[in-house]
Amino acid sequence: MEVVKTKSALRSARASLKGQTGFVPTMGALHAGHMALVEAARGRCAHVVASIFVNPTQFGNAADLEHYPQTLADDLDKLEAAGVDLVFVPNAAEMYPPDADTFVETPHLANILMGALRPGHFRGVATVVTKLFNLVRPDMAWFGAKDFQQVLVIKRMVADLEMGIDIIAHPTVREADGLAMSSRNLRLDPDDRHAAAILYQALQTAQATAAKGASANAIMEAARTVIAREPRASLQSLDLRDANSLQELPAEHALSAPAVCLLAAEFGPVLLIDNMVIDPTR
Ligand code: PAJ
Repeated sequence: MEVVKTKSALRSARASLKGQTGFVPTMGALHAGHMALVEAARGRCAHVVASIFVNPTQFGNAADLEHYPQTLADDLDKLEAAGVDLVFVPNAAEMYPPDADTFVETPHLANILMGALRPGHFRGVATVVTKLFNLVRPDMAWFGAKDFQQVLVIKRMVADLEMGIDIIAHPTVREADGLAMSSRNLRLDPDDRHAAAILYQALQTAQATAAKGASANAIMEAARTVIAREPRASLQSLDLRDANSLQELPAEHALSAPAVCLLAAEFGPVLLIDNMVIDPTR
């Protein structure tokens, strides 16, 4: 496995990879969720490229950026064991020269839901992923369904800008109690870690309520009631939206197509997000 820090070293290492190339962009602190994407890429492509870059332009909150876990040596061991060919580990100066002046925006998808809670977040994601795509030039790239809105933003921008990269959404990998794996879970104290399983329970309740033919409002209310049982959870948002467009649904109607239930809750200082595609026929 080759590890490169500069754009020029990446370009020359990439040039020697012939055949289908898959890409998995990450911010490091790798866990089984990230590794599932790498394994999926490994199974489909002749070569796999990964990147580790804690992208400052997608963090609104300086403390969040500062506290982002850094476990580089461990991450590289995991990527090597998984059969990755090439890893790009740039620093912020390498990715953002001081005269950079271009951003990629998908305003309709980016300024709602998580994007409303974290202004500028998806613009930072779209911009850095565009830069990484242009450097790595993959045939296919993997993203986790855990970041549901992120996947839609990336698919929109790839289609709109004719990038010609196959974007594959991988199902969310969960802990035994249902908590979606996240690097942020490392920052939960033990009581909050235990309490955080309530998010998955709320999503399962949303699915079960939808299957009974309940209205969008009733589904959201059922999920909210579950979270309200957990005093350590501070619910920031809970939404039920069309799973393709993220547009709002008629409140009093039963679901007629797959919807996605998206939630965000704080446990102590840590904001966790999760989602589930809710299928009324399941
Ligand atoms: P990061 O949070 O490191 O996640 C890297 C990829 O792993 C993302 O596609 C994310 O959705 C996926 N992932 C994280 N947890 C997962 C889980 N439990 N199950 C399945 N997939 C999971 O997302 C980012 O980095 C950044 O925004 C990035 C795309 C790298 C741009 O900076």
